[in-house]
Amino acid sequence: MDVTTAIRTRRSVRRYKKKEIPENVLKEILEAARLAPSAANRQAWELIVVKDPEIKAGLVPLCKNQKFVEECSVFLVAVEDPQQKWSRVDVTIMMDHITLAAHEKGLGTCWIGAFDREKVGEALGVPGNRMVTVCLTLGYPDESPEARPRKSMDELVYENRYGVR
Ligand SMILES: Cc1cc2nc3c(=O)[nH]c(=O)nc-3n(C[C@H](O)[C@H](O)[C@H](O)COP(=O)(O)O)c2cc1C
Repeated sequence: MDVTTAIRTRRSVRRYKKKEIPENVLKEILEAARLAPSAANRQAWELIVVKDPEIKAGLVPLCKNQKFVEECSVFLVAVEDPQQKWSRVDVTIMMDHITLAAHEKGLGTCWIGAFDREKVGEALGVPGNRMVTVCLTLGYPDESPEARPRKSMDELVYENRYGVR
């Protein structure tokens, strides 16, 4: 799958098959994260790969009761070093690499931003000098969602100066 196709056909997936992700497939997806660009190449992020069913179940109430947090095969929790400038951007880029690499391999993802940052951090033993940024569900899709609408190019893109179309 080429990058354009991956970008065009990726969807947020919220229903997953009960199917384990082969270790080599997971490794390749995590490698796409590792290779992501970052400010000054600092790679100011870490990632917790949650596979344990009990831990995933425990995270559901901390993620606004989004049940698919438990139903996905792997729940990915991105951690940033808030002391590092741009760490949140670093995290975002690497997580987006994951969404596209996963999609290329027939896996689905969904960003999870609706969660209690402190409580998820506590539950997973994240130290006080780190911060949970955002999470992703990962697994084999059990649905094929339609594309969500997007704003028009005109609404989003200006030429040379703000507001000039
Ligand atoms: C930062 C961020 C946080 C999000 N948080 C959630 C979430 O907590 N639960 C959820 O179901 N979807 C969440 N989403 C998914 C968005 O709703 C979804 O990307 C958007 O509706 C566009 O749909 P698409 O991904 O299928 O193109 C989040 C997306 C982003 C980028």
